[in-house]
Amino acid sequence: MMAWLSEMWSGGTAAVEPATLRDAPRLAQLHAASFHRGWSESEFEAMLTERNTLVHRLRVGRKIIGFAASRMAADEAEILSVAIAGSHRGRGFSHSLLLTHLGHLAGRGVRSVFLEVEEHNQPARRLYERAGFAIAGRRERYYHQDGGKELNAVLMRRDLS
Ligand SMILES: CC(C)(COP(=O)(O)OP(=O)(O)OC[C@H]1O[C@@H](n2cnc3c(N)ncnc32)[C@H](O)[C@@H]1OP(=O)(O)O)[C@@H](O)C(=O)NCCC(=O)NCCS
Repeated sequence: MMAWLSEMWSGGTAAVEPATLRDAPRLAQLHAASFHRGWSESEFEAMLTERNTLVHRLRVGRKIIGFAASRMAADEAEILSVAIAGSHRGRGFSHSLLLTHLGHLAGRGVRSVFLEVEEHNQPARRLYERAGFAIAGRRERYYHQDGGKELNAVLMRRDLS
């Protein structure tokens, strides 16, 4: 599906690949455009260097248009962030990105994956539900925004077999 999608909209081939240190500036850019508190280039460099983190990039043609990042501990992992460039959202790219990322986590011996998502973030919640995640809890006032607004998070879990 990825091939036809990418050809239709971008004229290139879509690929999910391990991110490298050279991707840090672009990943920081994508993150800053997607989240209230962006992660710096050096934060990405640290993640790309640490052995307990796994970062995949989604590339269409020569352009990186998304990423998924997780932190692993023993046989568990937490998805830290998934983002797709605004220009490429709503086209189903995130599903392949996430499934490939989960497959690599499984390959590293991860058996359970957790994540927190803002309760009203429908595209993200739909993405995770479709990838087999189920609600495992709720965290009240988990996200703090400028202006004092606080948002709840839903904790989701998926076991990998
Ligand atoms: C979350 C995100 C990665 C999803 O990427 P995407 O390209 O928009 O996702 P998709 O096109 O694959 O759509 C995902 C699902 O959400 C649904 N969806 C998309 N926009 C929606 C909306 N506004 N309301 C409800 N559902 C929506 C899609 O229909 C799809 O569901 P389906 O598979 O049942 O059809 C992307 O929106 C993003 O980067 N958001 C900002 C960062 C973020 O919130 N990350 C997740 C938290 S870590």
